[in-house]
Amino acid sequence: MKKTRIGRTKLKKEIFKKVKDYYNLFHKQKRVVPGVDYINYGGRVYNEEEMINIVDSALDFWLTSGKYCSEFEKRLARFLKIKYCTLTNSGSSANLLAFMALTSHKLGERRIKPGDEVITVAASFPTTVTPVIQYGAIPVFVDVQLPSYNIDCSLLEKAVSGKTKAVMLAHTLGNPFNIKKVKKFCGKYGLWLIEDNCDALGSRYFYKKKWIYTGTIGDIGTSSFYPPHHMTMGEGGAVYTNDSLLKRIIDSLRDWGRDCWCQSGKDNTCGRRFTGKFGQLPLGYDHKYVYSHFGYNLRATEMQAAVGVAQLGKLPHFVKARKKNWRFLREKLEEYSKYFILPEPERNSDPSWFGFLLTVKEKAGFSRNDIVKYLEANKIQTRMLFAGNLIKHPCFNEMRKTGKKFKVVGKGRKLPITDSITNNTFWIGVYPGMTKEMLDYIINSFELFFQKL
Ligand SMILES: Cc1ncc(COP(=O)(O)O)c(C=O)c1O
Repeated sequence: MKKTRIGRTKLKKEIFKKVKDYYNLFHKQKRVVPGVDYINYGGRVYNEEEMINIVDSALDFWLTSGKYCSEFEKRLARFLKIKYCTLTNSGSSANLLAFMALTSHKLGERRIKPGDEVITVAASFPTTVTPVIQYGAIPVFVDVQLPSYNIDCSLLEKAVSGKTKAVMLAHTLGNPFNIKKVKKFCGKYGLWLIEDNCDALGSRYFYKKKWIYTGTIGDIGTSSFYPPHHMTMGEGGAVYTNDSLLKRIIDSLRDWGRDCWCQSGKDNTCGRRFTGKFGQLPLGYDHKYVYSHFGYNLRATEMQAAVGVAQLGKLPHFVKARKKNWRFLREKLEEYSKYFILPEPERNSDPSWFGFLLTVKEKAGFSRNDIVKYLEANKIQTRMLFAGNLIKHPCFNEMRKTGKKFKVVGKGRKLPITDSITNNTFWIGVYPGMTKEMLDYIINSFELFFQKL
């Protein structure tokens, strides 16, 4: 083989052919035998394309952010119909960046300062709230509603104060929160809206007479690409926005806090690398090393993005399959509505479900743990609605003692619905790798459970 462009292309082709053979031999979806193998709540669905892309990135050996990262950012933005997308190393990093962007001095009076309040819910994933607490802002936990598992919008007016600056919420397990009401509320009080879209990629909401993807209606949206999510790159996340200033701030924070926006390996994109005046630095100090924020390094690698690019091509199919699997379970489990609160899509929404939520009714005659243990014993994986009531967790022990640094807005200054979720709710999977045989087995297992009751 010659050391020429043609030689390289030819050799790559041979390597990719071997990768495909390897995939077919050792990775091609093994049949999951229900009852023998676990029916997971989520999982990677991939073929040789992901493996070829990751090998391609390994052969290029660029390692850090490069062509695959740029391609991924452009393609995800195109899918979501949003202007800007920034790839990150996780969904938690995406949430951190989304929140910290709103604390930037570049936003003037609208910036979030320590001690300001952010409206959110406690029935969520911890890292939707963590950045708020770590920064020294005050989370205001509003109770949620069933069967949407999202914020109870009738409590929003009770949650607002002169210190409120933002609303930061996830679309619970793919079900959009009432975006119309939340947007109206944010507009009324001039609040920022961050949509944690980590569990809802592909969900849509009918807003201002058209269907819009969740994550793109607020000021900033976030995604996670951890394996059970709608698509994966192992670890990974994204932050998206239509606002060019927020995009600049997000990129700066992701990339060490720098003022420069050159891609990796590029210099002087701005054309004023040695001519600018910044802070108290001498005139012409290298713009590459000028820092406008106290930032991080939350960048993704080429290997992650290479997998993500292949997954993006499959995303429309993944979304369709999740909806279909959810509908199947919803129809079949309707029979047990005497025992369970069954999930309902938010009005005016078209959810791309992350999972199928079930809440055991008070007088069902069995507990959540009874059914969860039974399902797990029958090799059907179950999950809690993440933290349940986040405030009850050990990480809140100190804050709970003082009762400071967070607020609660719910009936009797408590969160009765969130607490009920902590005690009575669980969920099972609807991921695209589930077959009709697996779904039938799940329904059959529920049937047997109720026969024995
Ligand atoms: C709603 C929500 N937000 C954020 C995250 C964090 O994403 P990651 O695991 O990629 O950090 C998750 C993770 O599952 C999540 O469910």
